Amino acid sequence: MTDPTTRRPVLVVAIAPPAAGKSTWILKRARAHERVNLDTYRAFVADDEGDQSATNEAAALQGIILKGRLRRGLTTFVDSTNAASRRREELVNVGRQFDAFTVAVVWDLPLSVCIERNRSRERRVPVEVIERMHLAIRTEIPKGPVPDFDVTRRIGTHDVRFGRVPAAFTGAAWLR
Ligand SMILES: Nc1ncnc2c1ncn2[C@@H]1O[C@H](COP(=O)(O)OP(=O)(O)O)[C@@H](O)[C@H]1O
Ligand SMILES: [Mg+2]
Repeated sequence: MTDPTTRRPVLVVAIAPPAAGKSTWILKRARAHERVNLDTYRAFVADDEGDQSATNEAAALQGIILKGRLRRGLTTFVDSTNAASRRREELVNVGRQFDAFTVAVVWDLPLSVCIERNRSRERRVPVEVIERMHLAIRTEIPKGPVPDFDVTRRIGTHDVRFGRVPAAFTGAAWLR
């Protein structure tokens, strides 16, 4: 008989300003279809990852894919900034709907590092946007676990974890 705990989906939510290194980190750990990313779906809709007029359609596409995967018990990484508490709440609620094990990965990097990494990026984001999101995350979740997630991992000078990881998930990509 299949152990039901092994079929519980994992929902990994990145929380970081643009250029922190989310996509790099996730692409190293996720298999091709395990990652949902608004930039990608904006490009599907508008031929341009940065076209904000395509955000609603991109979010709708992301929602369909995310729910379809979680319903099937498939691990999914959400590769977006999720700086707004409303976005994080929406994602946790979708996770709950499918009994997902929810993981928040927060990047605690100095603003200067994000700005520096932005310079090396192919598609640069306006510095004001990075500043705004960096401040929002730092203010709303200054330390410790992210509310409502089962586990929080904070990546900065130290790599810290909050919450208990069930034995069924030992060896999961998001732990590495
Ligand atoms: N750990 C790291 N150390 C140094 N540079 C990094 C690291 N992670 C990502 N980068 C670089 O920073 C830039 C932004 O990374 P990216 O993954 O695109 O960020 P995000 O998806 O958060 O916007 C890229 O040029 C990438 O190569
Ligand atoms: Mg990215």
